[in-house]
Amino acid sequence: MTVCTSAPTLPFCTQSNCGVTTVSRIVGGFEAKINRFPWLVLIYIYYANADTSLPSDTKCGGAIISPDYILFAAHCVLRAIAVRVRPGIHNVNDPINEDSRLISIEFIVSHPEYDPLTESNDMALARVSPTIPFTPGKIVPICLGLNIHHVVGSEVVVAGWGVTSFQGQSSDVLREVSVNLISNEQCRTMYNSSGVTIKDTMLCTLLPDKDACQGDSGGPLIYEIQPQKFVMIGIVSFGIGCGSESYPGVYTNVTNNNYITWIRGIVGNPGC
Ligand code: ARG
Repeated sequence: MTVCTSAPTLPFCTQSNCGVTTVSRIVGGFEAKINRFPWLVLIYIYYANADTSLPSDTKCGGAIISPDYILFAAHCVLRAIAVRVRPGIHNVNDPINEDSRLISIEFIVSHPEYDPLTESNDMALARVSPTIPFTPGKIVPICLGLNIHHVVGSEVVVAGWGVTSFQGQSSDVLREVSVNLISNEQCRTMYNSSGVTIKDTMLCTLLPDKDACQGDSGGPLIYEIQPQKFVMIGIVSFGIGCGSESYPGVYTNVTNNNYITWIRGIVGNPGC
């Protein structure tokens, strides 16, 4: 039996296999190894008149947090009419078949205080149907519930199918990059003159030429709490340009207690 805990400095469900990857990383590499991030899903976003049985051009990332729910960014679904989710995918051109299915969504809950003008509370939950079958090593939920204070200054990881340079081309294969989690004070100072407000419900990463970018939105920012076990700390939200040395990448801080309470109210025990 899985015993869940809500200890503040540990992921929930410490005895579950959330966040576990069986694939180690290529040193200095960018294309992720197959199954390196088994909680990551590709989300297709559809607008009016689109054929939802086909892959769409607009994409976001998302994270499996339970057999029924994907955690991603609310801004991904502004004006969208439908979304579909693909778990266990590496190359966007992989044919849709039993191994790489297109899963439907029953409903989406955007955070009730999501504000597109400030990108505050940029977070949404998608309920999938049918349930996502967990397969160790291949389809695994990510952990949540870390205390962020231990992580500031550390190396964290983001991955996605987004563009590989600002206004450039998106990637067919999943890519990963390591970046540094900086303090919110530093981030606020850096964004000060731009008119962008950095709230405590956000997180920032900075490493020149290393960042998330368009198309990576909604994907998880993760921290390797022990070898090959990851906890989700953020959701790719926004930035000015990408990989700029002046403007950090900004994420929704999912370690925030109010967010964890909101998620648990809908999902139950994430990671279980
Ligand atoms: N809003 C973008 C998207 O929809 C993500 C931008 C992230 N930018 C950054 N510099 N980290 O895909």
